[in-house]
Amino acid sequence: MATDQNKFQAIISHCKEYGFIFPSSEIYDGLSAVYDYGQYGAELKKNVRDYWWRSMTQMHDNIVGIDAAIFMHPTVWKASGHVDNFSDPMIDNKDSKKRYRVDHLIEGYADTLPEAEKDAVIAAMENYLKENDYAGLKAFIEEKKIACAVSGTVNWTDIRQFNLMFSTEFGAVAAENEGDNKVYLRPETAQGIFVNFLNVQKTGRMKIPFGIAQVGKAFRNEIVARQFVFRMREFEQMEMQFFIRPGTQQEWYAYWKEERMKWHKSLGLKPEHLQFHDHAKLAHYADAAVDIEYNFPIGFKEVEGIHSRTDFDLSQHQKFSGKKLQYFDPEINQNYVPYVIETSIGLDRCCFMVLSEAYEEQEVGTAEKPDTRVVLKFPPKLAPIKLAVFPLTKKDGLPEIAKHLIAECKKNFYCYYEEKDSIGKRYRRQDAIGTPFCVTVDHQTIEDGTVTVRHRDSMEQERIPLTAVKEMVMKAMMD
Ligand code: GAP
Repeated sequence: MATDQNKFQAIISHCKEYGFIFPSSEIYDGLSAVYDYGQYGAELKKNVRDYWWRSMTQMHDNIVGIDAAIFMHPTVWKASGHVDNFSDPMIDNKDSKKRYRVDHLIEGYADTLPEAEKDAVIAAMENYLKENDYAGLKAFIEEKKIACAVSGTVNWTDIRQFNLMFSTEFGAVAAENEGDNKVYLRPETAQGIFVNFLNVQKTGRMKIPFGIAQVGKAFRNEIVARQFVFRMREFEQMEMQFFIRPGTQQEWYAYWKEERMKWHKSLGLKPEHLQFHDHAKLAHYADAAVDIEYNFPIGFKEVEGIHSRTDFDLSQHQKFSGKKLQYFDPEINQNYVPYVIETSIGLDRCCFMVLSEAYEEQEVGTAEKPDTRVVLKFPPKLAPIKLAVFPLTKKDGLPEIAKHLIAECKKNFYCYYEEKDSIGKRYRRQDAIGTPFCVTVDHQTIEDGTVTVRHRDSMEQERIPLTAVKEMVMKAMMD
């Protein structure tokens, strides 16, 4: 797998230096696998979230959005299978006491091998996992002499399952009634949709096929949490459950697979940076599952999962709650528990994908005057700031014209005003946060009402009427 650790580290540093993403509680040395979004990161994340939300709800007249609570009745997680099955196989090194997720340990080892050998190792691992053959998998690790990175030994414990859900206590009487008040922080947003299936179907008079979308926080006690915002303990998911008639799942699975791939391409990602990856080991709820993977600097990795979840969740909630979760289909005159196709994408991973695609270090000078720049080539619809406006000087009425332009535009999109330093330095700062357009107001503006627009990606400059700036930016944001 071609990885580019330097680029990966450069993106992490850039995110911190330019106000995109900070380690959480940094003044206390951070909290492992938890991150805070800064002023530009929060805008970027919001733009990605809004774009997804609009693509799902506004653009589909049979999909509506909800916002369910993070805390749910504890029986939800029993019914969904998460209490019993939401775990990862882990292994501990007896010498270093370091714990690894088995698939990560083997994948790390495979990455050091030539391509053909690597594929064979991954295929063997997937087979053991599919068969739940943990004794075989441990023997395989020993046979391949896969060592702990810390102790360097192959002295491993047996492979065991660890549940990934965080739990906490509800109410003030936690200590006395230990166990009774245990609630979980949701490990996926999907269950909030399932338990509201009937509420939404009835109040929205929804007819199958229809979808319910949701964006929200999810929590997983990832044992090996590293790789920046790729694997976090607190993260955000954007999920959609599409309720369908039983027997139509193959057709809708194929439909959503293609639809979601189209959505990723609409983010301006190069097609060769995206691929499908079928799951070898299906989650406890799925009869088919595929990932959309992006070629991150750390290699091709999952960004989104598309799962055919059958009627597993609704049937389980029907059983555990004793409430009927069925739909009367007037077209076939039948009651049934709907089947579900799920699309589930991590918002943080999606932002990391957009950042990875956008990040470029460029030589932009001449032989006489070498120069470099770091530019984030965000699509205008996702860029935190859409337009920067610079008066050439701080006098002669130029700041007033620049501020007036911002006042005209800021109702429609995010603008930035700056009058400090040379225009060149101001361009560089905007390149580094991915602002697609910079406009300079100069003395010619006073004479003929035109301004210089500088385009981020080509660095080309052109003069356009001051009155045409707003429309130019709005048009670019529609692409
Ligand atoms: N409801 C189905 C579900 O949760 P998943 O494949 O476990 O499926 C869906 O998660 C998506 O959530 C993943 O494709 C990924 O983008 C994101 N995700 C999962 N765990 C994550 C983590 N620890 N940190 C960041 N994103 C995560």
